[in-house]
Amino acid sequence: MDIKQIVHMNEGTGETSYAKNSVVQNKIISVGKPIIEEAVLSFCCTNYPGSERVVIADLGCSSGPNTMLAVSDIMDAICRICRQLGDPSPEFQVFLNDLPGNDFNTLFRSIPAYYNSIKEERGSEFGHCYIAGMPGSFYGRLFPRRSLHFVHSSSSLHWLSQVPPGLGSKNKGKLFISKTSPPCVLSAYALQFQKDFTSFLHSRSEEMVAGGRMVLSLVGRRSADPSTEESCHQWEFLAQAMQTMVIQGLVEEKKLDSFNAPYYSPSAEELRSAIQREGSFAVDRLDILEIDWDGGDHDTAEAAAAAETTEESGAERVMKTIRAVVESMLTSHFGGEMMDELFRRYRDLLSHYMSTSNNTTKYTNIIISMSTKLSY
Ligand SMILES: C[S@@+](CC[C@H](N)C(=O)[O-])C[C@H]1O[C@@H](n2cnc3c(N)ncnc32)[C@H](O)[C@@H]1O
Repeated sequence: MDIKQIVHMNEGTGETSYAKNSVVQNKIISVGKPIIEEAVLSFCCTNYPGSERVVIADLGCSSGPNTMLAVSDIMDAICRICRQLGDPSPEFQVFLNDLPGNDFNTLFRSIPAYYNSIKEERGSEFGHCYIAGMPGSFYGRLFPRRSLHFVHSSSSLHWLSQVPPGLGSKNKGKLFISKTSPPCVLSAYALQFQKDFTSFLHSRSEEMVAGGRMVLSLVGRRSADPSTEESCHQWEFLAQAMQTMVIQGLVEEKKLDSFNAPYYSPSAEELRSAIQREGSFAVDRLDILEIDWDGGDHDTAEAAAAAETTEESGAERVMKTIRAVVESMLTSHFGGEMMDELFRRYRDLLSHYMSTSNNTTKYTNIIISMSTKLSY
């Protein structure tokens, strides 16, 4: 599998697109907003006054309503602080990065409307903003040395640069780590994540200026054990749906056995130790948050009741969210003809689980805020 070609969210703005099915990721960015604002404040305290230009990169931006969300939060927070200090806002240069297969066409078409919305909603005091695309893998260098002030990435770093080498068909009947995976599968995944995350940190450490800040959020886990339900659940249901199709001769068994998802949800400990070992960044804070599978706000009885009465079932929403993310990589391995049937079966399994189980229906999300250790 060439990850650079096959990992991309469902394109466009249609029914199965990422743009239409990314409420969960939107919620993740919203709950991270106070952490972004705190990082901006600390950035401004060490770098302001004097910054006429602030360069921001969003890594793994995809295309849709979430793309400019965190970047807007960062720019708004900087402008607010400037106003409080009585200083003019800086100019912003924003780089939106994703793999070359990302739907940059739809993204670029949405930029003029974004510029207009800035003018209308933020007025002339808001510093000029210049947006550019940067195709390429964030596991390598993307930008010139010492050119970035603020880096953000959300819901992207749990995608690996490659399937861990040597897995072959060792993970029989599964798509990702599961309770039945042999230990060599678990350690291959953990090693690949460590390698990738270290390359990510090293590349950013060269690209960021002294005093730069970085906020990353990704799917993670609380447990030290990577085969617990919290990190494998969704892949497990997908594998179960595939297995029913293998039994009925709709999918070849060896095809299922040889698929391994280029994905890993690390623990906070794994992240901290990789950051410490790489050595370029200090962790300012690390938060572990739980987000409902359908991105809904079910914290109050009213909100839960409102979610129940929407036409689309919770299982349908969860299925569409997952489909928008994983369909491209499944299609490249299994072919596109079976996708409707696969996701119908997957939705039914989810529906049964969500209506009968008392177990978790939440993603564990880790948000880390870091600063470069470089001195001026
Ligand atoms: C679930 S989307 C998240 C999009 C957006 N940040 C959000 O929060 O809605 C994950 C994105 O990460 C991108 N991605 C995965 N691996 C990448 C890599 N190595 N380099 C750059 N982008 C990558 C995918 O193509 C995808 O667009």
